[in-house]
Amino acid sequence: MHPENIPLYNEVALGVHAPIYSYYARRIVEETSITTGHCLDIGCGGGYLGLALAQITALDFVFCDQSGEMLACAQENIAHFHCATRAKIVHGSVQQIPLEDQSMDLVISRGSLPFWEDLPTAFTEIYRVLRPGGQAYIGGGLGDPNTREAMKRLRRQTYPDWQEKQRPPHHSDQQYQEGLTRAGIHPFLVTRNDEGLWIRFRKEIQ
Ligand SMILES: C[S@@+](CC[C@H](N)C(=O)[O-])C[C@H]1O[C@@H](n2cnc3c(N)ncnc32)[C@H](O)[C@@H]1O
Repeated sequence: MHPENIPLYNEVALGVHAPIYSYYARRIVEETSITTGHCLDIGCGGGYLGLALAQITALDFVFCDQSGEMLACAQENIAHFHCATRAKIVHGSVQQIPLEDQSMDLVISRGSLPFWEDLPTAFTEIYRVLRPGGQAYIGGGLGDPNTREAMKRLRRQTYPDWQEKQRPPHHSDQQYQEGLTRAGIHPFLVTRNDEGLWIRFRKEIQ
């Protein structure tokens, strides 16, 4: 993201878009039941999903992004949410995650996946940093389908000039499936519905 667009993106993410992140945070807890241990938010941007998850769990967080500017924004948001003692910031790419093997109980990501150029390597890296029994919940979407139109209305009223950002289109389901398979991950779930596009998998306990 161009640095000059970050303040507005951040304001919208913390305001009108905040329900998107709290919705997926709740879904992650419902689906994974992981509420303690260590969570990596990869492609975290300003840290919105991890910070929403921090509100409803006792997890500690690593926020990782390839953009130093987005991480500076995450740093401010972490302080704003009084999460500094539970959060670490790491600069890096999903294709070379600067974390030790088997160090994370949960890996989450929202809105970053379409930017990942090398899916097999990205999924291999996520799998590598998961502990046995750990889970990944990765994808993107605009939150609760039931409140989405109201949120968009509010956004139009508050930010009449807001335009959806240009992002690369999602990879195809087949590309995701191939990437996961080439990473040696099995089983996995790729779903594309009114909740968005989400990929879930677990690292089996040997
Ligand atoms: C649209 S923003 C989403 C930010 C945030 N997760 C959210 O949901 O609002 C995409 C983010 O992914 C990051 N990103 C893109 N490719 C990446 C990669 N290969 N490794 C790590 N981060 C990446 C970008 O720097 C950017 O912060």
